[in-house]
Amino acid sequence: MSTDDQLIAVARAAREHAHAPFSKFRVGAALRAKSGRIFSGCNIENASYGLTLCAERVAIFKALSEGERPHEFEAIAILTDSDALTPPCGACRQIIWEFCGDVPVILANLQGKIERERSLNLLPRPFDSSHL
Ligand code: THU
Repeated sequence: MSTDDQLIAVARAAREHAHAPFSKFRVGAALRAKSGRIFSGCNIENASYGLTLCAERVAIFKALSEGERPHEFEAIAILTDSDALTPPCGACRQIIWEFCGDVPVILANLQGKIERERSLNLLPRPFDSSHL
């Protein structure tokens, strides 16, 4: 199994834990750190909708809270059940850039469709600490 396929499999399993009673849109994510560890995430919605957490951010924050360091990540996968593959939302693009830098973002669905995109292509001319 390729490393991409492995990441997609972890995202698929994480999607099973999605808490999405409002949108019914279940998302799984998986993040591979340079250490070799893989961190999963799923979306977690809230009745106060704005408090919802996307799967990508859950995976990234889990990794950081478990001791992984910023910019020590290799790739992130995002998996949904939609025909048109799901790219990360704007907030997640910012977080991916901040903590992962320019990494491959693997978009996948349950039917086996896969696309690879770089995070810098998803967020051109990003704002970050270099502007402060
Ligand atoms: N969502 C994610 O978890 N990741 C994305 O990349 C897109 C959107 C979630 C947030 C919300 O729970 C649901 O999908 C619908 O927006």
